[in-house]
Amino acid sequence: MRKLLDKTLVVASHNAGKIREIRDLIGPLGFEAKSAADLDFIEPEETGATFEENATIKALASARASGLPALSDDSGLAIDALGGAPGVYTANWAEREDGSRDFAMAMEKVEKALREKGATTPERRTARFVSVLCLAWPDGHVELFRGEVEGHVVWPPRGTSGFGYDPVFQPEGYATTFGEMSAEEKHGWKPGDREALSHRARAFKLFAETCLGT
Ligand code: IMP
Repeated sequence: MRKLLDKTLVVASHNAGKIREIRDLIGPLGFEAKSAADLDFIEPEETGATFEENATIKALASARASGLPALSDDSGLAIDALGGAPGVYTANWAEREDGSRDFAMAMEKVEKALREKGATTPERRTARFVSVLCLAWPDGHVELFRGEVEGHVVWPPRGTSGFGYDPVFQPEGYATTFGEMSAEEKHGWKPGDREALSHRARAFKLFAETCLGT
Protein backbone atom coordinates (compact mmCIF):
# COMPACT_ATOMS: atom_id res chain seq x y z
CA MET A 1 0.00 0.00 0.00
CA ARG A 2 1.43 3.35 -1.02
CA LYS A 3 1.02 6.30 1.36
CA LEU A 4 -0.13 9.68 0.09
CA LEU A 5 2.53 12.24 1.03
CA ASP A 6 1.31 15.27 -0.98
CA LYS A 7 -1.34 17.52 0.54
CA THR A 8 -2.57 18.58 -2.90
CA LEU A 9 -4.70 16.33 -5.02
CA VAL A 10 -7.21 16.40 -7.82
CA VAL A 11 -10.78 15.23 -7.26
CA ALA A 12 -11.25 13.33 -10.53
CA SER A 13 -14.92 14.19 -11.05
CA HIS A 14 -17.25 16.46 -12.98
CA ASN A 15 -20.23 15.64 -10.74
CA ALA A 16 -20.94 18.63 -8.45
CA GLY A 17 -22.65 16.51 -5.76
CA LYS A 18 -19.74 14.08 -5.52
CA ILE A 19 -17.10 16.84 -5.60
CA ARG A 20 -18.86 18.56 -2.69
CA GLU A 21 -18.98 15.32 -0.66
CA ILE A 22 -15.34 14.44 -1.33
CA ARG A 23 -14.30 17.98 -0.36
CA ASP A 24 -16.37 17.68 2.88
CA LEU A 25 -14.58 14.44 3.70
CA ILE A 26 -11.07 15.47 2.72
CA GLY A 27 -11.20 19.08 4.05
CA PRO A 28 -10.70 18.22 7.74
CA LEU A 29 -7.55 16.28 6.77
CA GLY A 30 -5.85 19.47 5.54
CA PHE A 31 -5.95 18.79 1.81
CA GLU A 32 -6.13 21.28 -1.00
CA ALA A 33 -8.33 19.70 -3.64
CA LYS A 34 -8.98 21.02 -7.16
CA SER A 35 -11.54 19.12 -9.22
CA ALA A 36 -11.22 17.85 -12.78
CA ALA A 37 -14.15 20.19 -13.56
CA ASP A 38 -12.24 23.24 -12.12
CA LEU A 39 -9.21 22.27 -14.24
CA ASP A 40 -11.31 21.85 -17.43
CA PHE A 41 -10.13 18.28 -17.91
CA ILE A 42 -12.04 16.24 -20.47
CA GLU A 43 -14.41 13.74 -18.86
CA PRO A 44 -13.13 10.28 -19.86
CA GLU A 45 -15.60 7.72 -21.18
CA GLU A 46 -16.59 5.17 -18.54
CA THR A 47 -16.16 2.01 -20.58
CA GLY A 48 -15.57 -0.40 -17.68
CA ALA A 49 -17.98 -3.13 -16.59
CA THR A 50 -17.29 -2.65 -12.86
CA PHE A 51 -17.13 0.24 -10.40
CA GLU A 52 -13.43 -0.55 -9.90
CA GLU A 53 -12.64 -0.29 -13.63
CA ASN A 54 -14.51 2.99 -14.06
CA ALA A 55 -12.98 4.53 -10.93
CA THR A 56 -9.53 3.59 -12.23
CA ILE A 57 -10.19 5.11 -15.68
CA LYS A 58 -11.24 8.44 -14.11
CA ALA A 59 -8.44 8.67 -11.51
CA LEU A 60 -5.68 7.77 -13.96
CA ALA A 61 -6.92 10.30 -16.52
CA SER A 62 -6.77 13.15 -13.96
CA ALA A 63 -3.44 12.01 -12.44
CA ARG A 64 -1.80 11.91 -15.87
CA ALA A 65 -3.32 15.23 -16.98
CA SER A 66 -2.32 17.07 -13.78
CA GLY A 67 0.90 15.38 -12.69
CA LEU A 68 -0.68 15.12 -9.22
CA PRO A 69 -2.30 12.27 -7.28
CA ALA A 70 -6.00 12.07 -8.16
CA LEU A 71 -8.95 10.63 -6.27
CA SER A 72 -12.02 9.43 -8.15
CA ASP A 73 -15.33 7.89 -7.10
CA ASP A 74 -17.40 5.50 -9.15
CA SER A 75 -20.67 4.75 -7.51
CA GLY A 76 -24.22 3.61 -7.99
CA LEU A 77 -27.37 2.07 -6.62
CA ALA A 78 -27.78 -1.73 -6.84
CA ILE A 79 -31.37 -2.90 -6.34
CA ASP A 80 -31.87 -6.59 -5.53
CA ALA A 81 -35.31 -6.94 -7.21
CA LEU A 82 -33.78 -5.53 -10.42
CA GLY A 83 -30.87 -7.97 -10.43
CA GLY A 84 -28.42 -5.28 -9.23
CA ALA A 85 -29.57 -2.58 -11.71
CA PRO A 86 -29.00 0.27 -12.29
CA GLY A 87 -25.56 -0.53 -10.78
CA VAL A 88 -22.70 0.82 -12.88
CA TYR A 89 -25.34 2.43 -15.13
CA THR A 90 -26.88 4.54 -12.33
CA ALA A 91 -25.86 7.85 -13.92
CA ASN A 92 -27.03 6.66 -17.38
CA TRP A 93 -30.60 6.09 -16.13
CA ALA A 94 -30.77 9.86 -15.55
CA GLU A 95 -29.56 10.80 -19.03
CA ARG A 96 -31.88 12.72 -21.34
CA GLU A 97 -31.54 12.71 -25.12
CA ASP A 98 -29.83 16.14 -25.06
CA GLY A 99 -27.15 14.73 -22.71
CA SER A 100 -28.42 16.52 -19.58
CA ARG A 101 -29.26 14.58 -16.40
CA ASP A 102 -32.66 14.42 -14.76
CA PHE A 103 -32.75 12.55 -11.45
CA ALA A 104 -36.49 13.02 -10.87
CA MET A 105 -36.97 11.09 -14.12
CA ALA A 106 -34.39 8.47 -13.07
CA MET A 107 -36.11 7.90 -9.72
CA GLU A 108 -39.42 7.45 -11.54
CA LYS A 109 -37.81 4.89 -13.86
CA VAL A 110 -36.61 2.94 -10.83
CA GLU A 111 -40.08 3.08 -9.27
CA LYS A 112 -41.71 1.88 -12.50
CA ALA A 113 -39.26 -1.03 -12.77
CA LEU A 114 -39.91 -2.02 -9.15
CA ARG A 115 -43.71 -1.92 -9.65
CA GLU A 116 -43.36 -4.09 -12.77
CA LYS A 117 -41.62 -6.65 -10.53
CA GLY A 118 -44.45 -6.34 -7.95
CA ALA A 119 -41.89 -5.07 -5.43
CA THR A 120 -44.12 -2.92 -3.22
CA THR A 121 -42.97 -3.74 0.34
CA PRO A 122 -39.68 -2.58 1.96
CA GLU A 123 -38.49 -6.22 2.12
CA ARG A 124 -38.86 -6.52 -1.67
CA ARG A 125 -37.14 -3.18 -2.29
CA THR A 126 -33.76 -3.82 -0.67
CA ALA A 127 -30.79 -2.07 -2.26
CA ARG A 128 -27.30 -0.83 -1.55
CA PHE A 129 -25.32 2.21 -2.56
CA VAL A 130 -21.79 1.33 -3.62
CA SER A 131 -18.82 3.67 -3.87
CA VAL A 132 -15.40 2.69 -5.15
CA LEU A 133 -12.70 5.30 -4.61
CA CYS A 134 -9.53 5.11 -6.66
CA LEU A 135 -6.38 7.00 -5.74
CA ALA A 136 -4.03 7.15 -8.74
CA TRP A 137 -0.54 8.59 -9.08
CA PRO A 138 0.90 10.01 -12.34
CA ASP A 139 3.23 6.97 -12.60
CA GLY A 140 0.19 4.70 -12.94
CA HIS A 141 0.11 3.24 -9.40
CA VAL A 142 -3.48 2.88 -8.08
CA GLU A 143 -5.14 2.00 -4.78
CA LEU A 144 -8.85 1.06 -4.61
CA PHE A 145 -11.32 1.27 -1.70
CA ARG A 146 -14.95 0.02 -1.69
CA GLY A 147 -17.75 1.15 0.62
CA GLU A 148 -21.37 -0.07 0.67
CA VAL A 149 -24.47 0.86 2.63
CA GLU A 150 -27.59 -1.33 2.80
CA GLY A 151 -31.11 0.07 2.74
CA HIS A 152 -34.29 0.12 0.70
CA VAL A 153 -35.93 2.21 -1.99
CA VAL A 154 -38.87 4.36 -0.84
CA TRP A 155 -41.61 6.06 -2.83
CA PRO A 156 -42.42 8.95 -3.08
CA PRO A 157 -39.00 10.64 -2.87
CA ARG A 158 -38.39 12.47 0.44
CA GLY A 159 -36.02 15.38 1.18
CA THR A 160 -34.07 17.90 -0.83
CA SER A 161 -30.53 17.48 0.56
CA GLY A 162 -27.71 15.65 -1.17
CA PHE A 163 -27.85 14.71 -4.84
CA GLY A 164 -28.81 12.01 -7.32
CA TYR A 165 -30.99 9.26 -5.86
CA ASP A 166 -30.68 10.40 -2.21
CA PRO A 167 -34.43 11.14 -1.77
CA VAL A 168 -35.43 7.50 -2.49
CA PHE A 169 -32.77 5.71 -0.43
CA GLN A 170 -33.44 4.94 3.23
CA PRO A 171 -30.46 3.31 4.95
CA GLU A 172 -31.11 0.31 7.19
CA GLY A 173 -31.84 1.30 10.81
CA TYR A 174 -32.87 4.89 9.92
CA ALA A 175 -36.32 6.46 9.50
CA THR A 176 -35.08 9.15 7.12
CA THR A 177 -33.78 9.04 3.55
CA PHE A 178 -30.35 10.39 2.60
CA GLY A 179 -32.28 13.29 1.04
CA GLU A 180 -33.63 14.20 4.49
CA MET A 181 -30.20 14.10 6.19
CA SER A 182 -27.64 16.87 6.56
CA ALA A 183 -24.28 16.17 4.90
CA GLU A 184 -22.78 15.38 8.34
CA GLU A 185 -25.53 12.84 9.09
CA LYS A 186 -25.21 11.22 5.67
CA HIS A 187 -21.43 10.81 5.94
CA GLY A 188 -21.68 9.82 9.63
CA TRP A 189 -17.89 10.07 9.80
CA LYS A 190 -15.05 12.47 10.53
CA PRO A 191 -11.35 11.66 10.82
CA GLY A 192 -10.74 9.34 13.75
CA ASP A 193 -14.31 7.96 13.94
CA ARG A 194 -14.68 4.17 13.98
CA GLU A 195 -17.92 4.07 12.00
CA ALA A 196 -19.24 5.76 8.86
CA LEU A 197 -22.71 5.70 7.32
CA SER A 198 -22.72 6.52 3.60
CA HIS A 199 -21.07 4.25 1.04
CA ARG A 200 -18.71 7.12 0.10
CA ALA A 201 -17.73 7.85 3.72
CA ARG A 202 -17.13 4.11 4.32
CA ALA A 203 -14.80 3.94 1.31
CA PHE A 204 -13.20 7.21 2.39
CA LYS A 205 -12.51 5.86 5.89
CA LEU A 206 -10.57 2.96 4.31
CA PHE A 207 -8.68 5.41 2.09
CA ALA A 208 -7.79 7.62 5.10
CA GLU A 209 -6.66 4.66 7.21
CA THR A 210 -4.63 3.07 4.42
CA CYS A 211 -3.07 5.97 2.54
CA LEU A 212 -2.99 8.67 5.21
CA GLY A 213 -2.56 6.52 8.33
CA THR A 214 -5.34 8.41 10.22
P1 IMP B 1 -20.83 7.70 -11.81
O1 IMP B 1 -20.06 7.17 -10.63
O2 IMP B 1 -20.31 8.99 -12.28
O3 IMP B 1 -20.96 6.67 -12.87
O4 IMP B 1 -22.29 8.04 -11.31
C1 IMP B 1 -22.87 7.48 -10.21
C2 IMP B 1 -24.30 7.93 -10.05
O5 IMP B 1 -24.82 7.23 -8.91
C3 IMP B 1 -24.43 9.40 -9.72
O6 IMP B 1 -24.69 10.18 -10.84
C4 IMP B 1 -25.62 9.43 -8.79
O7 IMP B 1 -26.78 9.54 -9.51
C5 IMP B 1 -25.63 8.08 -8.14
N1 IMP B 1 -25.06 8.19 -6.80
C6 IMP B 1 -23.81 7.83 -6.41
N2 IMP B 1 -23.62 8.15 -5.12
C7 IMP B 1 -24.76 8.73 -4.70
C8 IMP B 1 -25.14 9.29 -3.46
O8 IMP B 1 -24.40 9.37 -2.49
N3 IMP B 1 -26.40 9.77 -3.43
C9 IMP B 1 -27.25 9.73 -4.48
N4 IMP B 1 -26.93 9.25 -5.67
C10 IMP B 1 -25.68 8.74 -5.77
